[in-house]
Amino acid sequence: MMAGKKKYAMVSGIQPSGELMIGNYFGAIRNWVVLQDGYDCFLPVVDLHALTARQDPKTLRRRTLDYAALYIACGIDPRRATIFIQSHVPAHAELTWILSCFSHMGELSRMTQFKDKARRHVKNVNAGLLAYPVLMAADVIVYGADLVPVGEDQRQHLELARAVARRFNGIYGDVLKVPEIYIPSLGARIMSLQKPGGKMSKTDEDRDGSIFLLDDKETIKRKVMKAVTDSGRVVARGANRPAMANLLTICACATGTTLEEVESRFSNAGYGAFKRDVADALIALLEPIQKRFHDVRGAEEKLAATLSQGAYTANRRAGEVLRAVQDAVGLVPKSSRK
Ligand code: AQP
Repeated sequence: MMAGKKKYAMVSGIQPSGELMIGNYFGAIRNWVVLQDGYDCFLPVVDLHALTARQDPKTLRRRTLDYAALYIACGIDPRRATIFIQSHVPAHAELTWILSCFSHMGELSRMTQFKDKARRHVKNVNAGLLAYPVLMAADVIVYGADLVPVGEDQRQHLELARAVARRFNGIYGDVLKVPEIYIPSLGARIMSLQKPGGKMSKTDEDRDGSIFLLDDKETIKRKVMKAVTDSGRVVARGANRPAMANLLTICACATGTTLEEVESRFSNAGYGAFKRDVADALIALLEPIQKRFHDVRGAEEKLAATLSQGAYTANRRAGEVLRAVQDAVGLVPKSSRK
């Protein structure tokens, strides 16, 4: 069924701040693929979010298009879902301004991601970093999203989006849809292979901590084989065994099985044999995605047409919600200014 004809809307995006990695795939993208049949899906590459950190303009442009091609290569069908670039839909930024007037400094400065990034980038604690969750609230609210599928790290931002929508509705009536959060039961928080106490990140300086979707076979093998392990020898979860829990989760996600099944399959295996299987499972998952990526990315005109159609559909929908918000707060409609 074409986008725009379904009853409920789903919105989710990823910022092109680094190369896409398996945490983004297991925590977000693969769930979009499953949900695209039941929901009217709006899937932006959220390039404006990436500006909260310094980006090389050429790399940002290249990466934004890579992300769109990867969404498709991972199984998002542009005939069923709306894929577009966030900055091609000005309503995101316009709604952000209005919603920022309903967001409190206190709640923004308490966000874990803001505190964490402010600590890591002391020389560039810009206002955009603080306002990031407001832009994210606008990203979903502007499409009247019913559902937002994300990894665990985005839960707090979405709770804030819900609070802001409720606050706005408390003043103006039921103007905004308050979105539900969807967090997968498995794969919502993939941890770093090098520091399993912290999440796998696309901007981690230690590139060996993350498996990128475009990593080649040899790189995947090397990274998995050198992943840190817990003391002891058994391939099992348990207290103080974060590295094994993470590798088991990655294996279960990559093979489409449960944690229990993976645990019982490797109950008599050593770390080396287990890691070889994890690497093989990731290669089997990523190789076809990489092949499709090169085809989609190579067909530049077709990709540009997909993004242009996506922006058209997204602008139409976002324009309706933005106008309802502008009306509610008392901004004069354009037509009566003539
Ligand atoms: N480690 C992860 N495990 C599961 N899900 C994850 N996501 C991110 N990391 C993991 C989910 O991927 C989607 C896109 O993330 P994002 O780009 O919007 O923001 P992020 O979570 O802040 O990304 P990173 O990797 O940490 O990169 P930077 O350093 O650029 O911020 C979201 O649904 C997220 O939950």
